[in-house]
Amino acid sequence: MEAIVQTHGIRKVFGPIRAVDGVDLTVRPGEIYGLLGPNGSGKTTLIRLLVGLLRPTEGHATVLGRAVPDKSLLAEVGYMPQANALYEDLTVRENIAFFGEMCGGVSRQRVDELIALVDLRDRADSLIRTLSGGMRQRTSLACALVHRPRLLLLDEPTVGVDPQLRVAFWEHFRQLAQGGATLIISSHVMDEAERCDRLGFMRQGRLLAEGSARELRERAGAATLEQAFIRFAEAGLEGR
Ligand SMILES: Nc1ncnc2c1ncn2[C@@H]1O[C@H](COP(=O)(O)OP(=O)(O)OP(=O)(O)O)[C@@H](O)[C@H]1O
Ligand SMILES: [Mg+2]
Repeated sequence: MEAIVQTHGIRKVFGPIRAVDGVDLTVRPGEIYGLLGPNGSGKTTLIRLLVGLLRPTEGHATVLGRAVPDKSLLAEVGYMPQANALYEDLTVRENIAFFGEMCGGVSRQRVDELIALVDLRDRADSLIRTLSGGMRQRTSLACALVHRPRLLLLDEPTVGVDPQLRVAFWEHFRQLAQGGATLIISSHVMDEAERCDRLGFMRQGRLLAEGSARELRERAGAATLEQAFIRFAEAGLEGR
């Protein structure tokens, strides 16, 4: 089947910084692909290139078979930015409904479903500026999901979310993938990485290694993903 996301030698420089330095990424339909890497390794920049929010310095990206940027992708892609982009003076419900409208309109029932999913029924009518950090994060996730996108780009969606809800989120991500959606999720958290079908280790703007958690551990001869990451980074192992 055709790839949902494909990049060829994609590169983005900011002055002297090579934020994304020649990445060839292929993500297949229905998979959960985890982007793992330390601060500044280029995860957010890569995701922003895929959404079409940044123009590559070199190379190109294709999403759902269309060259990025393409406005028609808005309705089919859900993006949860790392820094939330909510309207502070609207309520939880209003924010979710607004994102739904921007992506072609959704029912009140759908908005209610999302509010329940992120466990904010008690706070549905609270203004965003009165919420805790984790609650904002949850609202932001609901906004990204509201229009049932075929592709979800989630930039550290579980940061600041409590452990119980984090598990519920991952269960939902899996359900979405089983329903045919494709997810790209960035994270620092290695135990979350275990839940992805495939991982890409990023370092200094490059994809250092790719594979399932198990494959990466085995290839690096490491007991944990942390150790595997360090070994790939140190040895400059060609992990593909
Ligand atoms: N708009 C920008 N202008 C200048 N430099 C930028 C810009 N955006 C990102 N960078 C730089 O590009 C590099 C990669 O940043 P990016 O945000 O993609 O990393 P990240 O892997 O998402 O990190 P984190 O885990 O901290 O979110 C960093 O050195 C960062 O300072
Ligand atoms: Mg980031």
